[in-house]
Amino acid sequence: MLSYRHQFHAGNPTDVFKHAMLTLLLQALARKPKPFFMLDTHAGVGRYDLEHPWSAKTGEWRDGIGRIWGREGAPPELAAFLAAVAAENPDGQLRRYPGSPVIARRLMRPEDRLALFELNADDRAALERTFRGVRKTTIQGTDGFAAVRALLPPVERRGLVFIDASFDQADEFQRLLHAIADSLARFASGTVAVWHPIMDRAAMGAFAASIQALKPPKTLQLELTTRPDDWAATIPGSGMIVVNPPYRLDAEAAPALDWLWRGLTNGGAGGWRAGWLVAE
Ligand SMILES: C[S@@+](CC[C@H](N)C(=O)[O-])C[C@H]1O[C@@H](n2cnc3c(N)ncnc32)[C@H](O)[C@@H]1O
Repeated sequence: MLSYRHQFHAGNPTDVFKHAMLTLLLQALARKPKPFFMLDTHAGVGRYDLEHPWSAKTGEWRDGIGRIWGREGAPPELAAFLAAVAAENPDGQLRRYPGSPVIARRLMRPEDRLALFELNADDRAALERTFRGVRKTTIQGTDGFAAVRALLPPVERRGLVFIDASFDQADEFQRLLHAIADSLARFASGTVAVWHPIMDRAAMGAFAASIQALKPPKTLQLELTTRPDDWAATIPGSGMIVVNPPYRLDAEAAPALDWLWRGLTNGGAGGWRAGWLVAE
């Protein structure tokens, strides 16, 4: 049963973190001339209307992109992310927010291939409208986790597996571990980026240890929290595990995360991290 709808959460602080990191990953891949492949296992709607009643109901975006939009002094590492948001809001008034498929296609070149998976039929219909006639972009309504097994390795032999699960199932962390293992088994040189909410630190420590036990190649751990660790009303923040990160992703993420944290923190709570979970 699919209960999660991203429209309620689009543009919130964890989305801003996730999408800012996604732009760094994509720009790094596009620096080399050879075409690359991106698998977006949980694509969502593509772009979000912040005036939608579901967005208005939670108001989550106001604590996320709402605080960043128009703020001075962003480092160059955030230029592509902010440009992607600006492209959705040509009159300068923040009304729309890009999701991972729209951000990805914007930063991918015509020769790069994008495969989108989305189980929800309504969300998929919106994706189909957005990407109708767009070359090298496919949309499928089957399980994104199964796609990791079905689509890897890509013919391009370069690429990104982006896993942004909805965490509406009890075993989601376990499924992420399997997906990382599946991706490594089929596409050892590929980059895998896995977004996750930050739960209690003991659970997070266990998740990190389970990833290390897979003996992956170099793995970067990115985090941004804007609430204290014991914040129970929602989640304090989120993280992204990046297996096989592109060269210098750690160095590029640091100024971006620092600036985002300064804009998004609630009274100085939380913090950020761009450190190695598995060093070379
Ligand atoms: C967090 S949202 C995705 C947001 C999107 N990646 C973005 O950044 O704009 C998760 C999406 O995954 C979809 N979903 C849930 N389980 C899925 C599965 N097993 N395979 C594919 N899509 C799934 C949900 O319907 C939801 O739209």
